[in-house]
Amino acid sequence: MFDKVNVAERIFWIGVNDRRRHLFENIWPLPTGVSYNSYLICDEKTALIDTVDFTAGNSFVDGIEKYLAGRPLDYLVINHMELDHSGEIKEILQRFPDVKIVGNATTKRIFEAYFGIIENFLDVGRGATVDLGYHKLSFTLTPWVHWPETMMTYDTTEKILFSGDAFGCFGTLDGGIFDDEINFDFYSDEMLRYYSNIVGKYSPMVQKALAKFADVEIKCVCSTHGPIWRDDPSKVIGLYDKWSKYEADAGVVIIFASMYGNTEKIADYIGRKLAENGVRNIRIHDVSKTHISYLIRDIWKYKGVILGSCAYNLEMFPLMEQLCRELEHTGVQQRKLGIFGSYSWNGGGVKNLLKFAERIGWELVSDAVELHGIPKYEDLTRCDGISKSMAEKILMTE
Ligand SMILES: Cc1cc2nc3c(=O)[nH]c(=O)nc-3n(C[C@H](O)[C@H](O)[C@H](O)COP(=O)(O)O)c2cc1C
Ligand SMILES: [Fe+2]
Ligand SMILES: [Fe+2]
Repeated sequence: MFDKVNVAERIFWIGVNDRRRHLFENIWPLPTGVSYNSYLICDEKTALIDTVDFTAGNSFVDGIEKYLAGRPLDYLVINHMELDHSGEIKEILQRFPDVKIVGNATTKRIFEAYFGIIENFLDVGRGATVDLGYHKLSFTLTPWVHWPETMMTYDTTEKILFSGDAFGCFGTLDGGIFDDEINFDFYSDEMLRYYSNIVGKYSPMVQKALAKFADVEIKCVCSTHGPIWRDDPSKVIGLYDKWSKYEADAGVVIIFASMYGNTEKIADYIGRKLAENGVRNIRIHDVSKTHISYLIRDIWKYKGVILGSCAYNLEMFPLMEQLCRELEHTGVQQRKLGIFGSYSWNGGGVKNLLKFAERIGWELVSDAVELHGIPKYEDLTRCDGISKSMAEKILMTE
């Protein structure tokens, strides 16, 4: 016997936790792991919605066979082809050779590049539905959230949205699987880190996807990572709406690049002055210490961004340059910007941060400040304008 996790009548969560992997997509740190969620519908016909990462091994498909108890798997719905969800497809095809693959034309193209030609394919890109008996599935194309083939599956009977990566977060499911069984605070920051680094670049496409569901009743959201949102799905849908419109909270993230501490000293001074000017959410990060995914998350979280760099071979510090480049790729908008730096010869950090400011188009709240050598108190006070103006702009729009 085994404990079945019922999402709704005849629908089961059959996800797996990955506590072993250090980096998701070999880039994003996983200090609290990640879950890969898959869903099995055992109706008059049977359907599996997405699979999991191949690291789950045979246990995943063994589990499906237990649920099916000798019945065939009729459909495999593929909302997303990324390998953290398609990793077990090969095994599924071996054990259930008659399974019908459900996707769209782009899914088929990627599928065949991974697993070879498929004959038994149902293209639902033009509105076809799948009738499982009690459950009836419809499909909505949501291209570029965050791959070109991504789509979402909607169970019209129970009003459940199987959303793929959308509304997903890092962090394993440690006992609690549903939103009413967990502490949301644990997952909310990791949901934003997932969004800002993986999905955020496609924010305009997220807006288009959300618009397609504006008039659809959604009682439960089943994502491919993290908790199932059945108690209050509107909470995470609201967050996606906010983030994809680049709306942020009243707060400031200061990120500095410093070899010997001069630039860090300026960062601390500016942070203190922000607090004196009434800003309550202030985070200061060292670009050399904190992984870029957390920096981008906090930039997505707060309206105010203050960047500081020492001069480095006539440029800004390389890791700050990497952050700036990534921000340009990501395209986050509507941020207020402050710039500072430190130099010993003829500068380089601030000059290049200003070029970044121009390219990204954020509003510079005050003139940039670049201090020469080891800063004295009187030098630091030249940064007062940055803190004061930033605080005013952040709090004004609160
Ligand atoms: C490898 C290296 C390259 C540097 N390049 C420049 C430069 O191009 N222009 C400049 O004015 N200072 C340059 N400096 C000096 C530092 O920018 C300066 O000492 C600054 O105050 C260091 O700030 P920090 O203490 O925050 O690291 C360089 C220093 C080092 C070690
Ligand atoms: Fe993905
Ligand atoms: Fe994923």
